[in-house]
Amino acid sequence: MQKHTIVLITQILFLKTYATKLEVVNQWNFLEFDPPNEFGAANFRPENTVFTGVEITPDRIFISIPRLRDGVPATLVTVPRNTPPGSSPKPQPYPDWSYHGAGIGLDNATTCAGLVSVYRTRLDSCGRLWVLDSGLGNSLDDFRRICNPKLVVFNLKTDQPERIIELPREAVRPATVLANLVIDESVQGSCDSAFIYMADTVSPALVVHDALRNKTWRVSHPTMYPEPSFATYHVNGETFTLPDGVVGLAHSPNLATLFYQPLATDKIYTISTKTLTKGPPGEFEDIPIAVAGTKSSQGLGLALDQNTDTLFFVPLAETSLAAWNPRTNFHDALAYDPTLLDFASELRWKEDGLWILSSRFQKFYKRTVTANEINLRVLRLPLNPHPAQMNFEYIR
Ligand SMILES: *[C@@H]1O[C@H](CO)[C@@H](O)[C@H](O)[C@H]1NC(C)=O
Ligand SMILES: *[C@@H]1O[C@H](CO)[C@@H](O)[C@H](O)[C@H]1NC(C)=O
Repeated sequence: MQKHTIVLITQILFLKTYATKLEVVNQWNFLEFDPPNEFGAANFRPENTVFTGVEITPDRIFISIPRLRDGVPATLVTVPRNTPPGSSPKPQPYPDWSYHGAGIGLDNATTCAGLVSVYRTRLDSCGRLWVLDSGLGNSLDDFRRICNPKLVVFNLKTDQPERIIELPREAVRPATVLANLVIDESVQGSCDSAFIYMADTVSPALVVHDALRNKTWRVSHPTMYPEPSFATYHVNGETFTLPDGVVGLAHSPNLATLFYQPLATDKIYTISTKTLTKGPPGEFEDIPIAVAGTKSSQGLGLALDQNTDTLFFVPLAETSLAAWNPRTNFHDALAYDPTLLDFASELRWKEDGLWILSSRFQKFYKRTVTANEINLRVLRLPLNPHPAQMNFEYIR
């Protein structure tokens, strides 16, 4: 792949025309819960309860809420898919409250049987949800490892776990934060034969799990580390610093490539899935990595249109949603909206458009968030009705 530069987005005035194209699926000032008393109703801290991940099924929206600080009642919740636009449905713990005892002083065995702290989840082609549990409590403040990280695969028909994969000790470092995952069903088969690529954001690496052979290894490279000069973010008039490594992931089966980005960088990088899946790299082995492009500012969410291989990303400083096609080098901004777009922690490409999870993370993080404004949104940008003929001219 050639090196491309994704050019600074400068068409902001012009793009204002298109801001209305973003649909508000759901929005909340704070998330509301009714935890039973034994699950810590009294300890619920809505100002610490900020989501980072979203996955969409035909009937439900799955939302991940990591335990970044104390007071998160449930780390994985659902809301129904077809609620009135802009409504604020009450999230329901997934699969039920019994999985969400972390943080209320249960013994480790009881806690680890459930879900501790989930940043993101992914659907496979067998109708199952792969839940990546980082196992951490209070990861922003005192960083407690409550349980070892694990993948829990839920059958969405029964809402029961079908498979639990404990990640082996040698794949985990003391500071490991597994915050994102991709399921690659294109190499040696789908579902239980898939490869899972996980982002270790704080001990920067990609952790690869071969679900067929039950083997796990790490692939680390300096491009997965935060760049100190890009560790400060400007979002909607607010500034915050968080030196996070590799976290945004998007996979192209057609190109056999994984795109990734640390939070603290202006680059998007690529690694071939052949490199990732061939087994643990040898000592001192050179890992082939390429720079896919340079963005106008940092961002977290990445998604890829599986039909056209168009990559979507969200430059934070511009509060924009941008697209770039590595095959054609086409690039453009699809939406600019400082009202609706804040910190877009996840993008999901689906046949009905691009789903965006956006929060005032900057305010949750800096403890300046208030209950009297909208802080959390699920957005959708309808794309061209026929994705196979995706033609960006439609936004002009
Ligand atoms: C069990 O939990 C305690 C804190 O509650 C922690 O210090 C300890 O490391 C945990 N043990 C395991 C095996 O995870
Ligand atoms: C997978 O491998 C781990 C060790 O890495 C082992 O503890 C576990 O029992 C294995 N699981 C299965 C289903 O074989």
